[in-house]
Amino acid sequence: MTEKFRPNLHFSPRAGWMNDPNGMIRVDGVWHLFFQHDPDSTVHGPMHWGHATSTDLVHWQEQPIALYPNDLGTCFSGSAVETEEGAVKLFYTAHSRTSTGEDYQVQCLIHADRALSKYENHAANPVVPNPGLTAFRDPKVIWHEASGKWIMLVTEGQSIGFYGSDDLERWTHLSSFGETHGRHSPGPWECPDMVPLTAPNGEAVWVLIVGLNPGGYAPGSGTQYFVGQFDGTTFTNANPPETELWLDYGRDYYAAQTFFEHGGTATPVAIAWASNWLYAKQTKTAAFRGVMSLPRELRLQDTPDGLRLAARLPLSAEAGFANDALPGTSRTDLMADLAVGEEMAIVLFGEEQPHFIVGRSSKERGSIRTIRQPIAGMDHFGHDYAVDLPWPTNDVLDLTLFIDRGLVELSAAQGLVWITNLFYPASPDSPVSVTTRSADQFEELLNG
Ligand code: FRU
Repeated sequence: MTEKFRPNLHFSPRAGWMNDPNGMIRVDGVWHLFFQHDPDSTVHGPMHWGHATSTDLVHWQEQPIALYPNDLGTCFSGSAVETEEGAVKLFYTAHSRTSTGEDYQVQCLIHADRALSKYENHAANPVVPNPGLTAFRDPKVIWHEASGKWIMLVTEGQSIGFYGSDDLERWTHLSSFGETHGRHSPGPWECPDMVPLTAPNGEAVWVLIVGLNPGGYAPGSGTQYFVGQFDGTTFTNANPPETELWLDYGRDYYAAQTFFEHGGTATPVAIAWASNWLYAKQTKTAAFRGVMSLPRELRLQDTPDGLRLAARLPLSAEAGFANDALPGTSRTDLMADLAVGEEMAIVLFGEEQPHFIVGRSSKERGSIRTIRQPIAGMDHFGHDYAVDLPWPTNDVLDLTLFIDRGLVELSAAQGLVWITNLFYPASPDSPVSVTTRSADQFEELLNG
């Protein structure tokens, strides 16, 4: 059993396959994280919902499997809510195939107890039948305070459908958003979420989160977002339709979801699957496959480019990284005090080639180039691309690297830009080495 790349401060399943985070909810002070799971293999198979709990978002206790495939199909991604009366409900997509082998997906309701240890199928499942779409999945249910109703967001091929309900059982289609907005690819928009946030000027804003696979900012899976308004029926994009915004610019941050909390929360906490469908089934672990990202608190920030999401770790996660005693785990803070035209290379794990090159192209702009060497047996794993960002007005770009047994989450400009990338260093357990050098010396190595 190879546990070499099992992270210390990120959730990974004991055994078997894991992809998207599902049913994220905080009930009675306990954070519940469900996940797409095949307990019997380390590649994507018949999906179950695995389950883990935490009281600090950092240390997770795996619980018995929550949802098993049944007559309606296997259990694809979904969400969880708590009602005014304190009842807890889960929503998931039952996935099956038609006689001609096409995907067939419907939305189902589960009644759970408050401990989330007992699950009862709703007798009249599915609660949302298939309207004739091949990709119709990933129900995310939220409470819309202003209109006093439940809203379900669901994948409708190249757009996100919005349904409304008073009782969580009878759903009416309200609208669809997306066809001509943001980035599209042959793959559907998946795993939607939507959170209310307050802009620095006090304006109430809705942020819609959407997974796209393939077609992310970098090759493979990526998570984009839209800033706008939701009036209880329709989502309106505040930016021109061609605007593309990304929750994370790395290769390994997909299907992000936020925790439901009864009564709402000023700071939604998101967790994503730290992998990419291009090579997810080939990652270098044996007993298990798949890890989650760190939890991130989302907020809105004014930038020279407009209103943007920024993220930071909850204090409990920061505290986890304060303890350098955990093997292969570290936090490193760097200040890139660069003149225009200067570059700085960041080299990790005592390797030869740089992993990031930070550059300043003008007084106002800079970039982070992310470089990953190919690995045999992992398709499209290598990469070399850049992320553009506004350079802070105080002239110094702050960078923080959270590293956990090869998984690197880089935050820049106070969390305005995140880059999450998996690495498989020779000794993921050795003390993490992070060094910075002038970028010139790497020119030949990288171009040669
Ligand atoms: C996204 C996804 C979801 C689907 C699930 C199946 O990664 O394709 O759309 O519900 O994975 O495991």
